[in-house]
Amino acid sequence: MISELPEALLLQILSLLPTEDVAATSVLSKRWRTLWKVVPKLKFIHDGLTGLQTFSENVGKTLLSHKAPVLQSLHLLVSFDKEASMDLGVLIGIAFGLHVRELKLEVYCEEGLFTFPRSLYNCEKLETLKLVTSCGSILVDVPSSVCLKSLRTLLLHEVEYKDDESVVNLLSGCVSLENLVVKRKRHDVVRTFTIAVPSLQRLTITDQTNDSSYVIKAPFLKYLKIQGFSGLGSCLFENAPELVEANISIDYVISENILGSLTSAKHLSLNISPVECTFPAGKIFHQLAHLEICTYKAEWWNLLTLMLDTSPRLRVLKLIGGTRTRWDIYSGGMAWGKWIQPKNVPECLLFHLETFVLSVWTCHKGKLGDEKEVAKYVLKNASRLKKATLSKNDVNLEERVKLVDELESVVRASSSCQLVFE
Ligand SMILES: *[C@@H]1O[C@H](CO)[C@@H](O)[C@H](O)[C@H]1NC(C)=O
Ligand SMILES: *[C@@H]1O[C@H](CO)[C@@H](O)[C@H](O)[C@H]1NC(C)=O
Ligand SMILES: *[C@@H]1O[C@H](CO)[C@@H](O)[C@H](O)[C@H]1NC(C)=O
Repeated sequence: MISELPEALLLQILSLLPTEDVAATSVLSKRWRTLWKVVPKLKFIHDGLTGLQTFSENVGKTLLSHKAPVLQSLHLLVSFDKEASMDLGVLIGIAFGLHVRELKLEVYCEEGLFTFPRSLYNCEKLETLKLVTSCGSILVDVPSSVCLKSLRTLLLHEVEYKDDESVVNLLSGCVSLENLVVKRKRHDVVRTFTIAVPSLQRLTITDQTNDSSYVIKAPFLKYLKIQGFSGLGSCLFENAPELVEANISIDYVISENILGSLTSAKHLSLNISPVECTFPAGKIFHQLAHLEICTYKAEWWNLLTLMLDTSPRLRVLKLIGGTRTRWDIYSGGMAWGKWIQPKNVPECLLFHLETFVLSVWTCHKGKLGDEKEVAKYVLKNASRLKKATLSKNDVNLEERVKLVDELESVVRASSSCQLVFE
């Protein structure tokens, strides 16, 4: 039955399997004898049981007998101890010769290091490059400019870099890059990670270093996600006027500059330390419709007040709780102050806010008060509110009953507002 399926469908199915299994289908029947050679996506897994050399030879043979008009993707997953990894470079070279569109190289190695071959940073047809490792087992050493002119997606996951220039040289050769995902491992040598890519539309950075800095120049960025930045570094983020969505979760980097560059966003998700949060005067989030703020950093309401004042068109506001750590509560040795409601009702509450969500996960003794006060304030002053949802996960029963009672007794500014408890 399966042999009667159309070839396109069979190839799609076979594309999902490890190539070793695909090759094994060649014994099924005459039709299958050549089918495996035209599967457009190849995936080879080296489990460390057979020698790397045998593995490389098998992969090499398969690649050389590949007959599909286009090799859409090659995924190599290799783990080794400390063997020389020259062979990997040869395999990638063969794949580039076949004009592979997507290369995903996953390397896990206890002691050794695979240096991505310099000559392979020049590949005109490559559209996606993913270098994935867990503790810097892939070295990115790019001493001079490169040419990856079709590359649109680049993922660098915990790779090691030779130096700051290697980052600059690599990215400057990616003239069509639209999507960049970088996860920095805990310690790497890069002091300033420079991302200057005019074509970039999506940028995701997960930073685990403790003191490195960033320079980000991506004027056409539409989506930005930053996580980490818990070190003492800095971030220079140039204005991104086309930005639509940003999700920023940073600990101690001074966030002023970042926040001030996000003013064109429609969706913002913020988990930043408002103790340090100041904001360039006069900046307004004209387009911001959807705002999410995490409420487990010390004095998070400073950020809320600031954002309400500068986001005249806000329609959806979500306050997301979480588990507060001691550090969060006494951030930088500071005890929490108290929320003070703004003198004037912000424009967004008067004219636009329709949805309010308060999600409390766990609360420390006495600390639910702030969320509650903010919730009451929103109910009392948001004239266009349609729905207020309260979801509590780990709040004790007594607190919960009190909270429900208190909020239900609030006289709402919007008579049509529905109050929902989840
Ligand atoms: C970052 O970590 C390294 C290695 O543990 C340490 O030597 C260095 O002092 C740390 N830097 C900062 C600023 O904490
Ligand atoms: C923002 O990022 C955090 C951390 O990855 C995630 O939990 C959250 O769902 C994201 N928020 C949005 C709106 O995507
Ligand atoms: C918000 O509403 C409450 C209750 O109606 C009112 O007492 C308070 O003055 C309002 N806030 C402002 C700034 O007008």
